[in-house]
Amino acid sequence: MRIDVLTLFPQLFEAPFSFGIFKRAIDNGLVELALHNIRDYTHDRHHTADDYPYGGGAGMVMKPEPIFEAVEAVVAGTDTDNEGGRTPVILLTPQGRLFTQPVANELAQYKRLVLICGHYEGFDERVREHLVTDEISIGDYVLTGGELPAMVVIDAVLRLLPGVLGSEDSTLEDSHAGGLLEYPQYTRPADFRGWQVPEVLLSGNHAEIERWRREQIIRRTLERRPELLDTAELGREDRELVKRLTTRRSKDNKDREL
Ligand SMILES: C[S@@+](CC[C@H](N)C(=O)[O-])C[C@H]1O[C@@H](n2cnc3c(N)ncnc32)[C@H](O)[C@@H]1O
Repeated sequence: MRIDVLTLFPQLFEAPFSFGIFKRAIDNGLVELALHNIRDYTHDRHHTADDYPYGGGAGMVMKPEPIFEAVEAVVAGTDTDNEGGRTPVILLTPQGRLFTQPVANELAQYKRLVLICGHYEGFDERVREHLVTDEISIGDYVLTGGELPAMVVIDAVLRLLPGVLGSEDSTLEDSHAGGLLEYPQYTRPADFRGWQVPEVLLSGNHAEIERWRREQIIRRTLERRPELLDTAELGREDRELVKRLTTRRSKDNKDREL
């Protein structure tokens, strides 16, 4: 996969992708990360990429010309890389659709992505209207720039690509991969300050361990994010466990009220 990032601060991307898993993926040619400075597409002496908002108001707005030119230069002649489809040109914005695991899965299917990072008060509206194909928000809060959101998107997408993580299976059991939260994990020592690792995990009985993990997945999700159970794919045993736990919970609540 090749990801082109358009930003006013390309240096910000150096550290997160220069170590560990992502460095290896880049060195092995699985991933190409191309950073483009939007200022390189300005034509005035001061490399002006922002200007005052029409109609007045606080802050500056990113000008459309350098962003259009940068995208056009970067995407030129490469749309066929996505098997005939258009290369997604994604604006990072708190007004975009919410970034979730299914969105990461969707983006991981492309061979190319272009990400545009904003700054100041945001972009000239014509970027949104006439240039981008998608708008993504990493959450309902406002950050200073689109660089951290772009890094979040890149990280979540790259770890899904075959060969990027050591074990392919490791993403399948992650929280949200199957719509639920992951089971609790333990490592050595089995006894840490008197806190024991659950007996079943030391038993060597794989069927029992699998059953325990599945139950933990359901319990955890019910405790922390019950709304996820409404859309997740559940088997008969899962549904029975949810019913049992919910009945027990409402009985406990009633007992507490008495
Ligand atoms: C200070 S914000 C601008 C917010 C804009 N005035 C608004 O209210 O929608 C500057 C830039 O940071 C990025 N940004 C901030 N919060 C974000 C979020 N939650 N998700 C994605 N990008 C975000 C966007 O690229 C945005 O253009």
